[in-house]
Amino acid sequence: IERKAFDETKEGVKGLVGAKITQVPRIFHVSQGSLTDKNPSVSDLEIPTIDFANVHVDKASREAVVEKVRYAAEKWGFFQVINHGVPLNVLEEMKDGGLRFHEEDPEVKKSYFSRDFNKNKFVYNSNFDLYSASPSVNWRDAFSCYMAPDPPSPEDLPVTCRDAMMEFSTHVMSLGGLLFELLSEALGLRSDILKSMDCLKTVLMICNYYPPCPQPDLTLGISKHSDNSFLTVLLQDNIGGLQILHQDSWVDVSPLPGALVINIGDFLQLITNDKFVSVEHRVLANREETRISIACFFSSSALPNSTVYGPMKELVSEENPPKYRDITLTEYTQGYFAKGLDGTSHLSNFR
Ligand code: SIN
Ligand code: FE2
Repeated sequence: IERKAFDETKEGVKGLVGAKITQVPRIFHVSQGSLTDKNPSVSDLEIPTIDFANVHVDKASREAVVEKVRYAAEKWGFFQVINHGVPLNVLEEMKDGGLRFHEEDPEVKKSYFSRDFNKNKFVYNSNFDLYSASPSVNWRDAFSCYMAPDPPSPEDLPVTCRDAMMEFSTHVMSLGGLLFELLSEALGLRSDILKSMDCLKTVLMICNYYPPCPQPDLTLGISKHSDNSFLTVLLQDNIGGLQILHQDSWVDVSPLPGALVINIGDFLQLITNDKFVSVEHRVLANREETRISIACFFSSSALPNSTVYGPMKELVSEENPPKYRDITLTEYTQGYFAKGLDGTSHLSNFR
C-alpha cells in the first residue's frame, strides 16, 4: 500500500495487525541498512539512574543530586529518576488508561481521529510521519493533547483515559518544576532561571501504542530522532525497545519499574549553547508484545509562539561564542514536523 492508500482512520497500525497481515507494508520499511547500520547495539552500558529522595533534605544532598543531573545532562542527555514524587498508582493508571483508549471500540476511537490541534484538543491518529517528508512511516499509533498552558476540560477527553491524563500531567508538571530547578543549578545559575524563560509553560502529552510487528527487522516503532522540546518526561512499560545513540552505539533504556525517563530536548541544547545535549533515540519494533509509552514534552504550544530563543547570555563569552542563531519555537517546530523523523538533526540547521 502507498501512504495515501493506508487508511489510518481504520485503527491505524493496530488495524493492520488486527487484519492479521503477515508482511509489513513497504511504507513502513526503514531505508536499507539503517537498522544494521555502522552503530552497534551494546548491552554493557546503562544510562544514569538518579535518586531524588534527598533533594529537599539539606544543602549537601541537593548538591550531590545536582552534580549527577549535570553529569547526565552533559554526557548522556538521558537519565532515569527514582523517588521522583509521582505516586506509583498514578503511573500504573496512566499506562492502563492509555491502553484502554488504544484498545477501545474502533468506532469510539474514530470519533477522536484528527490531525489538527486547532480543531480538537485530543488528537488521535496513526503517526505524524505518514504525512511528513521522512522516508518511512513508524510502526505505532498515538494520541496527543496539550495539557498546559490551556488544559483540556474533562469532556474534551475520552472517558477511558480522562482521569489518568489529568492526574498524571499534574504530577509531571510539578516534577518538571523540580527538574528545571536542578538543571538551572547544574548550569551554575539561579534556580528559577529556566522557569523564568517559560521552559515549563507548555506540556504536550503523547501516548504511543506499538502493536506487535510481524517483521520487526524491517521497520521501527519510532525512527531515530532527537526531541522537539526543552525537556521530555517519559513513562514506559516493561517491554523495552527504546535505545539512545551514545558514543556511536545504541544503548538500551532498560525499563526500571517505578522510574521515569528524562531527556534533554533540542531547545535546551540550543539555549545552553551545547552544554546539555539532546541525544538521538529510537524505538525498535518487536514481534510478540504490545508496548505503551507516555511522553510529556515541555515544548512549544500549537499556537504560534513568537518568543525568541538563543544561547543564554549567561553561558556565552568571548571564548565561548553563541553556536546558534536566535529562533522562535514556532519556526523550529514547523520545520521539525515538515521534515519528519528522517534521521537528520534539525538543530544543526540553526548553527
Ligand atoms: C519518543 O521518543 O517520543 C518515544 C519514546 C518511547 O516510546 O519510549
Ligand atoms: Fe523522542
